Amino acid sequence: MTEFPHVHILDADQFSRQDIEIVLEKTKTIEALSKEDRVWGLLRGKVLASLFFESSTRTRLSFETAMNRLGGRVITTVGFQFSSISKGETLYDTMKMIEAYADIAVIRHPEEGSSRIAAAAISIPVINAGDGIGQHPTQALLDLYTIHKEKGGLDGLKIAFIGDLKFGRTIHSLIKLLRHYNVEIVLISPVDLALPESYRKALQKNKTKFEETEDIKALWDCDVAYITRIQEERFVDRSEYEKLKNSYTINRAFVQASRKQTMIMHPLPRVNELSTDVDDLPNAAYFRMAKYGVHVRMALLCLCLKTEIG
Ligand code: NCD
Repeated sequence: MTEFPHVHILDADQFSRQDIEIVLEKTKTIEALSKEDRVWGLLRGKVLASLFFESSTRTRLSFETAMNRLGGRVITTVGFQFSSISKGETLYDTMKMIEAYADIAVIRHPEEGSSRIAAAAISIPVINAGDGIGQHPTQALLDLYTIHKEKGGLDGLKIAFIGDLKFGRTIHSLIKLLRHYNVEIVLISPVDLALPESYRKALQKNKTKFEETEDIKALWDCDVAYITRIQEERFVDRSEYEKLKNSYTINRAFVQASRKQTMIMHPLPRVNELSTDVDDLPNAAYFRMAKYGVHVRMALLCLCLKTEIG
């Protein structure tokens, strides 16, 4: 197989279809090796710096779990409050220190473009775990892995994105990855939370078939529905959030009315857009996604550290 050409993982745009396929393939191998208890030790002696300056449960814990399962070690800082950034230190200086402590860093930060600044500061690999409303490429890779695994491939699928398409960085990244596949996209959101122009332009340029609607029933014709919460923390105007926060609630009866066995995805956390009575439907994939995420991140850590898998 061709070599993985990237040092850092910063933006879904950097991935060619071949790169994506390497990640999917390596994740499959990691999944199989994990079942036989053969992954521990792959990253023995390596240290991951886990730098989360914005809230996280899944992404931080899945990266840290991935490193632990590979036999590596993790150092961590959570929030600005307990880091020297709160004393006025720049991200550049913080990263310069990290280079002396760790072999690889994963960073989540509220400012768009921050992971690029972090990567430019140091020579160890940097993985973007979410930069404000920008990108969240490893989530998109695990989303893609989930669709691939559960639907047997991507080409020919009709995929709906529902909720906050304006601020949802996981959607921004997944849409960029999907340009390599022959899929049809349905964008379902209130007009005020529509997908930003730059992403729509990229879809047009790529000749990806897509439609925009406010009507949630469009989901019933889709193979996959990717639901997201309204991103409260991104609103400058609180009254705007109050106006939009209850835009959609998808429940069991609604999912069951679908004409297809629509797979229900959600990057989580959920608020009120996806009701818990959907959870035990076989097509509810969101908790399985969290599990696949560990394997995807194990593969990515090995690939960035140029460690042979299997
Ligand atoms: C997402 C994120 O942080 O962008 N969560 C995640 O990483 N699984 C989605 C969100 O916060 O709504």
